[in-house]
Amino acid sequence: MQRVDFAFQQVMQYLNTTSQERTLWIADENTPSDIPSSVINVEVICNRYDLYLAFQKAGWSCEFNDFELHAHSDTSFDRIVYRISKEKPLVHHIINHALRMLKTNGCLILIGDKSEGIKTFSRKTSVLFQTPLVEHKVTGSLWVSEHTKSHQTSDTDWLDDQNYSELRTKSFDNGKTYYTKPGLFGWQKIDKGSAFLIDELPNMLGDASLIQGSVLDLGCGFGYLSVELAKYPIELTCTDNNAAALLACAANLTYVDHQGRVVPSDAGAELSSNSFDLIVCNPPFHSGFSTSSELTQRFLNQTARLLKPKGIACFVVNQHIALEKIALSYFRDVKLCADNGHFKLLTLQAPKI
Ligand SMILES: C[S@@+](CC[C@H](N)C(=O)[O-])C[C@H]1O[C@@H](n2cnc3c(N)ncnc32)[C@H](O)[C@@H]1O
Repeated sequence: MQRVDFAFQQVMQYLNTTSQERTLWIADENTPSDIPSSVINVEVICNRYDLYLAFQKAGWSCEFNDFELHAHSDTSFDRIVYRISKEKPLVHHIINHALRMLKTNGCLILIGDKSEGIKTFSRKTSVLFQTPLVEHKVTGSLWVSEHTKSHQTSDTDWLDDQNYSELRTKSFDNGKTYYTKPGLFGWQKIDKGSAFLIDELPNMLGDASLIQGSVLDLGCGFGYLSVELAKYPIELTCTDNNAAALLACAANLTYVDHQGRVVPSDAGAELSSNSFDLIVCNPPFHSGFSTSSELTQRFLNQTARLLKPKGIACFVVNQHIALEKIALSYFRDVKLCADNGHFKLLTLQAPKI
């Protein structure tokens, strides 16, 4: 049964009452993928590629980027509608820019659940905007606040966004340094499943010399797998749905002096069929409101389409995901290679497509 998303209903209610006002909708991963028809005078910025494609299909004027709001001039919008994100630095980044981008008497609308910190963000925003807090409860623990711009921004004490826009370098447990940033998967650590996959990759293939030809890192994140693969003589393609991930992955490949291609896609759907000798993947559990099984099937379906007939895909998944069963719908040869009690490693060959 489709769950009712009251926060999204609120977003749409505000967008549908914009009439002549120039409005910006900040749409992050919380946005459901069944995008309604476009609304006049509303522009969208979105950081997820699948949503960006859905927005375009539904006729919206939409940009895909990691909320690069600097590109928008001061005092350019009458209204900004934002359902708050999970990451505090991102929420602060958007609220700060909203104040800058709004015209005088323009309004920022914040929508979110108490458990997501909406009450705190609303309070901080009213301090930033130097206006009394105007908020109301919609239903259950869902709240909305409205913030009208009443002053110029020259003497503003901005919220701490930890330099959200900038990539930063971090040293991880393996002693290596990576470019990373808030807003992308596991941005402060190496995923244990991915580390397991890299350690075991030569064993999975039977021979490290098989790491060659055209290789795809499907759902590349900041590029941990890609950077490890870059030492082999391969033609590397890295793809992800998340704009921040693509920025970080490209920077990490440049850092190790590798000429890999970094491209946006929805689970690889925009890449050409039968292109890859090897695909490595640590698939996502969930994204927005999609369930893990829908996403897993999408990743497997695309992997089968993208692999060359004699190619091989190496996946790592959490122990509780029955990938070996699901994958049999897409591959004739599915092998469980290792299981460390937390993660399973599988090879998938002979695509059925
Ligand atoms: C478990 S993480 C693995 C990240 C990276 N490969 C690593 O090992 O650290 C899964 C990745 O899939 C990406 N992702 C989620 N949904 C996606 C989609 N529909 N298409 C492409 N990538 C997606 C996420 O942004 C995330 O970077």
